[in-house]
Amino acid sequence: MCGIVGYIGAKDAKDILLNGLEKLEYRGYDSAGIYVMSNEQRGHLFKEKGRIAALKDRVDHSVEANAGIGHTRWATHGEPSVRNAHPHQSTSERFTIVHNGVIENYQEVRDAYLEDIELVSDTDTEIIVQLIAWFAEEEGLATLDAFKKAIVALEGSYAIALIDNTNPDIVYAAKNKSPLLLGKGDGFNVICSDAMAMIKETNQFVELMDKEVAIVSKDSLSIENYAGDVIERDHYIAELDSDDLEKGTYPYYMLKEIDEQPAVMRKLVLKYQDENDHLSIDPKIIDTLLASDRVYIIAAGTSYHAGLVGKKLIEEVAQIPTEVHVSSEFGYNTPLLSEKPFFIFISQSGETADSRQVLVKTNEMKLPSLTVTNVAGSTLSRESDFTLLLHAGPEIAVASTKAYTAQIAVLAILAEVAGLKKGTIKESTLIHDLGIVANAMQTLVDDKDRIEELASEYLSISRNAFYIGRGMDYHVSLEAALKLKEISYVQTEGFAAGELKHGTIALIEDGTPVIAIVTEGKVAGHTRGNLQETKARGAHTMVISMDGLNRPDDQIVIPKVNPLLSPLVSVIPTQLLSYFCSLHRGNDVDKPRNLAKSVTVE
Ligand code: F6R
Repeated sequence: MCGIVGYIGAKDAKDILLNGLEKLEYRGYDSAGIYVMSNEQRGHLFKEKGRIAALKDRVDHSVEANAGIGHTRWATHGEPSVRNAHPHQSTSERFTIVHNGVIENYQEVRDAYLEDIELVSDTDTEIIVQLIAWFAEEEGLATLDAFKKAIVALEGSYAIALIDNTNPDIVYAAKNKSPLLLGKGDGFNVICSDAMAMIKETNQFVELMDKEVAIVSKDSLSIENYAGDVIERDHYIAELDSDDLEKGTYPYYMLKEIDEQPAVMRKLVLKYQDENDHLSIDPKIIDTLLASDRVYIIAAGTSYHAGLVGKKLIEEVAQIPTEVHVSSEFGYNTPLLSEKPFFIFISQSGETADSRQVLVKTNEMKLPSLTVTNVAGSTLSRESDFTLLLHAGPEIAVASTKAYTAQIAVLAILAEVAGLKKGTIKESTLIHDLGIVANAMQTLVDDKDRIEELASEYLSISRNAFYIGRGMDYHVSLEAALKLKEISYVQTEGFAAGELKHGTIALIEDGTPVIAIVTEGKVAGHTRGNLQETKARGAHTMVISMDGLNRPDDQIVIPKVNPLLSPLVSVIPTQLLSYFCSLHRGNDVDKPRNLAKSVTVE
């Protein structure tokens, strides 16, 4: 959701910014723009609605520039349009900024300082740049002071990059709540929302923290707080392989990422194995978890669905009561907490604003927290006490697939290591079980043709669909339904199979696709009965069952795995059904409409 890039140095800023923006495309956006300072010290602004490809067509490629800033915008204040696209400029065009986040008091700021200024966009961002100009031009402040004074007046979240065209040898940056990194190079420096955007230029990054300002020139990079105290911070090396960011021969990242899941399972076992080949997790995490009386899992979307499976694993294996909460609800309607809570934040990106606002509160309450994330150094990772990484490699497709299965696998490892220490389980079977899971996943990803046929038969023209299941199969149904709706736009509900008859069955018509997931022996008969109830009312039914529980006419039979890990496998055909349904409908599989990969606003 929104992305920032900035560059200052000897190379052509234009190309570096445009390439960087392409790498941020996965975050979701609906317009984009760059502002570059040409070698003759003239500013050039290019903005376009829609894709980066359109922006590239608009850019004057004859301009040679060695400094600039760029942005992908996911609309919040004001429709997606060239007028609202970033960068935004002050009326004098002296100041130009890009901004991620949401300024909550923009109306108050406008009323207090900018009543006489004619705004040209509907964005909250324009308020920021006009305010900087106001302090510099009306009050005569130096640029850095005007910048600081402006951001101190702001409430909300922001990551900002700023250029003052009277001194284009510096790019300024600041952040609060929204992520921003500074990248160090030899004779150049960069700014970016995440390391992926600039990994081709450098792998050395410095984190900018909340309420800090960076002053970036081609040869230097300094950070200070709003009071002017200089802050020294070492860089870290981003372990990103730029090849991981390419699709290779795949038509879409989503398909590549679905296919990578068996390898991710195997990699996770290696990453969490100690020198004796036992699964191992930082003892401090296990001790803190075992000292707690209740686990609270906080997450959004697909990560929330992984959390539902995680609850079952932690309760069954480590026998610690566990609650799972949608982060946007928990923060403002916090339930009565237990005496010794332990918080687990699950977030592929590690940047989700809804989850972060809960973490800010639990930190204020000094409650222990663990983040399970794919992105080392992400905001949630930095701000929680502990981190467990997903090691899934970059997930570029907006629809999450390999991160979901990696989240469940990491929670399974956590539960097993805790269970062994607590004595609630006697022997370790997970390495073996995850190996079987990886093989089962492989069988399913190799069966794409069959799943593509089923997608055509069941989902090609339907406007709505249902996934049903009980227990873990219900949790997978929720994820399966989210996957189908987000990329195919088929209105889909994931439903507890037994609950359907209490009202929602009224929606079943002739031909409505209803897909049952059946991997749990104790409820298999009940789920099949509920599916029959829909069939009797005209539903076009499909069954995804597990070997051993299957019946001859089941459409998809997944190989047998440890039932506690069945979501890792039963979800695979549902991911593929969504993929092929979206593909057949001619949608942009990787970049579904209205969605963003990294949801950095509440
Ligand atoms: C769906 C999807 C989203 C995310 C949600 C949370 O495919 O990806 O539902 O799961 O926005 O994002 P993270 O996991 O980054 O916190």
